[in-house]
Amino acid sequence: MGLPEERGRSGGGSGVREEAGARSRGRSWSPPPEVSRSAHVPSLQRYRELHRRSLEEPREFWGDIAKEFYWKTPCPGPFLQYNFDMTKGKIFIEWMKGATTNVCYNVLDRIVYEKKLGDKVAFYWEGNEPEETTQITYRELLVQVCHFSNVLRKQGICKGDRVAIYMPMIPELVVAMLACARLGALHSIVFAGFSSESLCERILDSSCSLLITTDAFYRGEKLVNLKELADEALEKCREKGFPVRCCIVVKHLGRAELGTGDSPSQSPPIKRPCPDVQISWNEGVDMWWHELMQEAGDECEPEWCDAEDPLFILYTSGSTGKPKGVVHTVGGYMLYVATTFKYVFDFHAEDVFWCTADIGWITGHSYVTYGPLANGATSVLFEGIPTYPDMSRLWSIVDKYKVTKFYTAPTAIRLLMKFGDEPVTRHSRASLQVLGTVGEPINPEAWLWYHRVVGAQRCPIVDTFWQTETGGHMLTPLPGATPMKPGSATFPFFGVAPAVLNESGEELEGEAEGYLVFKQPWPGIMRTVYGNHERFETTYFKKFPGYYVTGDGCRRDQDGYYWITGRIDDMLNVSGHLLSTAEVESALVEHEAVAEAAVVGHPHPVKGECLYCFVTLCDGHTFSSTLTEELKKQIREKIGPIATPDYIQNAPSLPKTRSGKIMRRVLRKIAQNDHDLGDVSTVADPSVITQLFNHRCLTIQ
Ligand code: WTA
Repeated sequence: MGLPEERGRSGGGSGVREEAGARSRGRSWSPPPEVSRSAHVPSLQRYRELHRRSLEEPREFWGDIAKEFYWKTPCPGPFLQYNFDMTKGKIFIEWMKGATTNVCYNVLDRIVYEKKLGDKVAFYWEGNEPEETTQITYRELLVQVCHFSNVLRKQGICKGDRVAIYMPMIPELVVAMLACARLGALHSIVFAGFSSESLCERILDSSCSLLITTDAFYRGEKLVNLKELADEALEKCREKGFPVRCCIVVKHLGRAELGTGDSPSQSPPIKRPCPDVQISWNEGVDMWWHELMQEAGDECEPEWCDAEDPLFILYTSGSTGKPKGVVHTVGGYMLYVATTFKYVFDFHAEDVFWCTADIGWITGHSYVTYGPLANGATSVLFEGIPTYPDMSRLWSIVDKYKVTKFYTAPTAIRLLMKFGDEPVTRHSRASLQVLGTVGEPINPEAWLWYHRVVGAQRCPIVDTFWQTETGGHMLTPLPGATPMKPGSATFPFFGVAPAVLNESGEELEGEAEGYLVFKQPWPGIMRTVYGNHERFETTYFKKFPGYYVTGDGCRRDQDGYYWITGRIDDMLNVSGHLLSTAEVESALVEHEAVAEAAVVGHPHPVKGECLYCFVTLCDGHTFSSTLTEELKKQIREKIGPIATPDYIQNAPSLPKTRSGKIMRRVLRKIAQNDHDLGDVSTVADPSVITQLFNHRCLTIQ
């Protein structure tokens, strides 16, 4: 593995960064005084004091925060114990071990009964169609969750069991995940844009005993027959000797048939005429959500869990190609997402918060469900996409619900930027106070547009750097305290001790560029890879003993600001979603025509980075547009639409070192038609390079 500057992400982030860099570099934006005035952290000095305390006295700092939550039994022993150093033994992190609580109780019962916020709206649900809306209060959500917990209990789900969830952004998704949390069962949510193959792989990896899914849904104009994909996944599981015994199906598109009513277990009305979606039904396995809910009782005692019991599994791409089941635990995760939500978005009781991420990703877990609910916040839950029915959908929703804090991804900002200011300025957006971004480095051009047009120059932007593995924000401005620099995630959150290392693992001081690592545990850090603790240790702790290694490169400037430079492993970041080159390559070589494949990232104006694939065909096969279409389809089916390549190039052979290693660095240059290849003396056959330059793909296919 080379240094970040050599092996840095080839994608748009760094490239695009340069364009606006000259203009914005050096310029910083102070927090607006009207935000600072009422902020929890009103100045940089106050941030520094709190940050120092959080590192020097982590047990006291987090202990004070823990007091705001409900604990069935307090922490009997040490508040924190850990080992980050593989040379000293097994890696482990334990916060509040022995204390017992329940996350669902804390985010619902505590809010309803202790905080007396039962009538407060938990979610405004906005469907794919603007006229499909409903809202649900904390009390109603609690009732639904209790009902569904009883449903799961009746199906034999117990503490420690794994439940797979494959659903669009509908209220039942939140109900399902919280019901699992109430029972101490681990939810494993699989993004509804993933393929049946990906779902099957994840069900098998954590041997889920039950699947919760939906009949079908619309994403913009596109109908997704989710039940069909779920059926295929379960069929594949069966073939592999793992029959899932129960599949609970929410009638979402077919809701209109159910009628409406004011019972909280009733679902929101769907006004769009229901198309003729053919749902196949497996007797003995499939069950309708609404039928089970009718029979279920509305009281359900939570299962009291140890702070260190697992709360959920969420899969993220691994550089070997096989996804890793990231495990988060009850106590630490709850504390960390609640605290980051409160400070990073400077949450106040009257806020209406909106995170546009799908719950299928960690951003949705932490900042659609757990973080906002733990604070008793009102949020928007949005099923649709930013471009449907038109380019101004997001801003019309902002006005409709008077959204105060808005959190999205750079890819969405870049997409909307292309359509100019008018779709934004058509709406008032007067309610907006804080804007946020997550998922990849935001190029200053997009940052400035977000700030000037969307936020009308008055809203601070929190550029939050974090990972599925970290549970919550790691580097981020605080809206009332931190002067912002466009493109920089600025400073560490409370409890976070970043360092920049060189290739030899030495900590660099002052202005520096290198590997971004963290020196001590924060409560939200993942505890293990499900079923493979060794992989957890080798992925995050082996390279530099004593540190958690993020896999990202970063630069620290003269003012101590952190700038993420991108992945330094074989990972790609497409529209803010991590993919490994290995998983895309293995999907390609599974096609009978493909002998070998190499995938690299390529700059893309909206996605940040897109996939550029080189394929070597088997004898007897010819390269054609039919074949590239087949390969794309294959990737969509194996992984999901997010992994669809933009370019597939015929590569009669690939540049390799003498030991046979594919030289991706060279392939990235070829994809970009950059002839400045650096040292290519290790290439076994240099003529391969000329041949590939001559056959570059010139347009997106
Ligand atoms: C990247 C998403 C720069 C980074 C929450 C990280 C970012 C990976 C930022 C994790 C940001 C996320 N600036 N890069 N603000 N946020 N990343 O696990 O490469 O889906 O390692 O978690 O996204 O992606 P993941």
